[in-house]
Amino acid sequence: MSPADTPDPQRWREAVRQEWEDADVIAAWRKWAPQARLAGHAATQAMLEAAQLSPRMHVLDLASGAGNPALELAEAVAPHGWVTVTDLIPQMLAIAQENAQVRGLTNLSFCVADPEALPFPDQTFDVVTCRFGVMYFPDVGQALQEIYRVLKSGGRVVFTAIGPFEQNPYFTTTMGVLMRYVPLPPSEPGAPHPFRFAQAGILTSALQTAGFQQIQEGYRTIPWPVPGTVEQVWDYIRELAAPFRPLLARLSPAERVAAVSEVLAGIRRYHDGQQANFPWVIVLVTAVR
Ligand SMILES: C[S@@+](CC[C@H](N)C(=O)[O-])C[C@H]1O[C@@H](n2cnc3c(N)ncnc32)[C@H](O)[C@@H]1O
Repeated sequence: MSPADTPDPQRWREAVRQEWEDADVIAAWRKWAPQARLAGHAATQAMLEAAQLSPRMHVLDLASGAGNPALELAEAVAPHGWVTVTDLIPQMLAIAQENAQVRGLTNLSFCVADPEALPFPDQTFDVVTCRFGVMYFPDVGQALQEIYRVLKSGGRVVFTAIGPFEQNPYFTTTMGVLMRYVPLPPSEPGAPHPFRFAQAGILTSALQTAGFQQIQEGYRTIPWPVPGTVEQVWDYIRELAAPFRPLLARLSPAERVAAVSEVLAGIRRYHDGQQANFPWVIVLVTAVR
C-alpha cells in the first residue's frame, strides 16, 4: 500500500471540513435553499415513509445542511415530537435555523455535531436520519457505532446516498463534462466522496459491522426538478456542489467556455422550458438497532 492508499481519516476530516465551510459554498446553500427544498422533495418523502414516524418521537438528523429533511421531520412529529438538527459546520446549521424560523417551527433544536463523536447520551433517539451526508463521514464505521449508541433499542436509521454516477444525468451532464477536461485521480479507497456508497451493499456491510439488524438497502429513481432557465440550473448545480468546485477552478478560460457550452447543451436535453427534470437514482437504506 502506498501512503496515498493508506486510510487517513484525519486528513479526510480536514478536507471535508474545508470543502463544506467554504464561504462561497455556504452562501450558495443559503441562496438556493428554496429551490433545493423543492428539488429534493421526493427524497425527503421517501425518507419520511421509511422512518415509520409516530407522534412524540425524538429524531436526530445528521448533516442537515439547510434543513433537509429535518424541517419536514419536525412537521411530521409536531406538536409533541422533537427533532435535533445537526451539522459539522456551524454556518450550515445557521441556515437550517433560519429556514425553521421562516416556517414557524418550534419543535426542534440545533447542535453542531460530528457524527463520529455525538454529544448525546446513550439511547436518546427513536430515529436517526441522514440525507446525502453519510458519504462525507471520514470514518463511517466510527460514526455508525455512535449512531447505534444514541439510538434506543428498536430505533431506526434512514439514510440516503447518491446512486451510481453514470445513472445520474444531473452529474453526467455537468461534472461529467468537466471531468473530461480535467481528469480526476481515482479517489482513495474509503475516502469521502459523493459516490462512495453508490454501489449496492457497501452501506449494508458497514451497518452490519456496527451491529444493526433488519438492514434494507435499495435503489430508488426519483424526480429531481430544478426550476429556472438552463443557465440558472447550471448556476444552481455548480454553486451547490462543494466537492466539484475545484474542478471548475482548474479549467483555463478557453476550456471553461467550451465546457460550459457542452454543459448547457446537456442540461437543455432535460429542460421543459420551466425547469430541468432530472431523474435521480438514490440509495435508500434503513436498519434497526
Ligand atoms: C450534500 S449536503 C446534504 C445536506 C442535507 N442533508 C440535504 O440533503 O440537503 C452535505 C452536508 O453534510 C455536511 N457534512 C459534511 N461532512 C460532514 C461530516 N463529516 N459530519 C457531519 N456533516 C458533514 C455538510 O456541511 C453539508 O451540510
